[in-house]
Amino acid sequence: MALVKLFGSKRKLVLTTLLVCAAIFELAHCQKDAQRKPKLSKPKPEKSTNRGSTSVTAKPKSKASPAAQQQTVLTQVLNRKFKKVGETISVPTGDTLELRCRGKPVQWSVPSYLEEEDEGRLRTVQHERYGALTLVNTTGADTGEYTCYPMYCEDTDCRKVYDKAITVFIFFPDPQELFVPSSDYYEVIQLRSNWPTVLPCQVTTPEAKVSLHREFPPTEVAVDGTEISFNVKKGFTIHRPRPYHAGSLYCVASLGNLRLSSTKYMLIYVNYPMAPPAPVIQASASSMVVGENLRVSCSVVGEQDVAVEFTWEYPGQEIGRPPYTQESIGPVAGGSARQQSQSVLLVDEVRDVDQGTYTCTAQNLQGVKSVSTTVKVLPKAKPKKP
Ligand SMILES: *[C@@H]1O[C@H](CO)[C@@H](O)[C@H](O)[C@H]1NC(C)=O
Repeated sequence: MALVKLFGSKRKLVLTTLLVCAAIFELAHCQKDAQRKPKLSKPKPEKSTNRGSTSVTAKPKSKASPAAQQQTVLTQVLNRKFKKVGETISVPTGDTLELRCRGKPVQWSVPSYLEEEDEGRLRTVQHERYGALTLVNTTGADTGEYTCYPMYCEDTDCRKVYDKAITVFIFFPDPQELFVPSSDYYEVIQLRSNWPTVLPCQVTTPEAKVSLHREFPPTEVAVDGTEISFNVKKGFTIHRPRPYHAGSLYCVASLGNLRLSSTKYMLIYVNYPMAPPAPVIQASASSMVVGENLRVSCSVVGEQDVAVEFTWEYPGQEIGRPPYTQESIGPVAGGSARQQSQSVLLVDEVRDVDQGTYTCTAQNLQGVKSVSTTVKVLPKAKPKKP
C-alpha cells in the first residue's frame, strides 16, 4: 500500500500529515476499481529459450577480458545498416529495436517495466565480439533508458564496468498514447522540503508539448525552468518543494489534434529536517539523596514543524517503574524558524535503584541520536545530634 510504503516505520513522526493522508487514502482506495491497466500488447507466448531475460553473460574463455580498456560502442541496426546511437533515438511503435554493443561479454539494463514483462519480446544474445538486444512488437510503454555495460571478467567472476557504460534514451512514439502508460490511476508522491520532487510523466515522443496542471482549482502550473523544470526524458521536477506545491497535479501532452492527460500525482508535503536531531541531556543534579525528586531533561533545537520523537532508558525500568515524562515544544529565543522540542523524565522520591545511566534517544525523519547522563543516589545523611 502506497501510504505504508511512504512512511514505513516513521509513520508516528508525520502526525501532522496523517490527517491529510487519511483522506487521500480513502480517495486512492476508491479509485482502485477504476484503475487503468496499462495498454500493452499481449502477444501469444513464443517458444524461446531466452524469454524476457534482461541480461546474458557469456562465460569468457580467456582469463581476463579487455573490456576495461576498450571504448564501448553502441549501435542501432536499421535496415541492415549500423548507426551509432546518440543520446536519444526514436523508433516507430510496432518496429523492431535492434541494438549492438561491442564487448565480450556485455550486460544490458532496460526499463523496469520490460524487465518484469515475460512475453518473449525482448532477447539478448552474446556473440563473439558484441552483445545484441532485440525488442519486437514495440509499444509506447517501452520508452525509456537502455544501457549497455561492458563486463570485466576474471575467470568466471564478472563485474560491470560502470564508467564504460553507454545509455541511450529510446522513444517509441505511439500515435494513440502520448504518455508512457502507468498501472496506477493515482501516484502518491512525497514532497520533501529538502529534496527535488519528480513528477515522472514520461512522454513517448519528444515532439509532444507537455504542460503541468493542478486539479483544484483547475489551473495550469507555471513552468519557469528554475522553480519547476521539464525534461523530456524525466518529466517535471520541482526543485525546492514548498507547501503550496502540494495537491493533485497531472500533465497534459499535446501533439497535432491529440491532447491527453497523464496519471494524477498526489503530492504530499513533508517537512524534512536537514539533519538528524542533536539532543542535549541534563539532570537536575548529578548526585542526590534518597527521597529527593529527580528531573532529567532532553532537548532538541531544530527546524520548525519537524517532529521529534523521544524515548528513554533509565535504571528504574528494571524494577518496572513506569516512564513519567512531559513533552513540550516551544519557540527558541531569537526566533528564526527554529523550535525546541523537549522531553522531561521525572522520578519522584528517588531510591537506590534509580542510580545509574539515563539515556534519551531523539529521532526525526533524518535520523536518530542518543545521549546519556549518570545520576548518583546517596543514602540519607544521619540526623546530627544536637
Ligand atoms: C509480434 O506480433 C506478431 C503479429 O501480431 C505476432 O505474430 C508475434 O507472435 C509477436 N511476437 C512476439 C514475440 O510477441
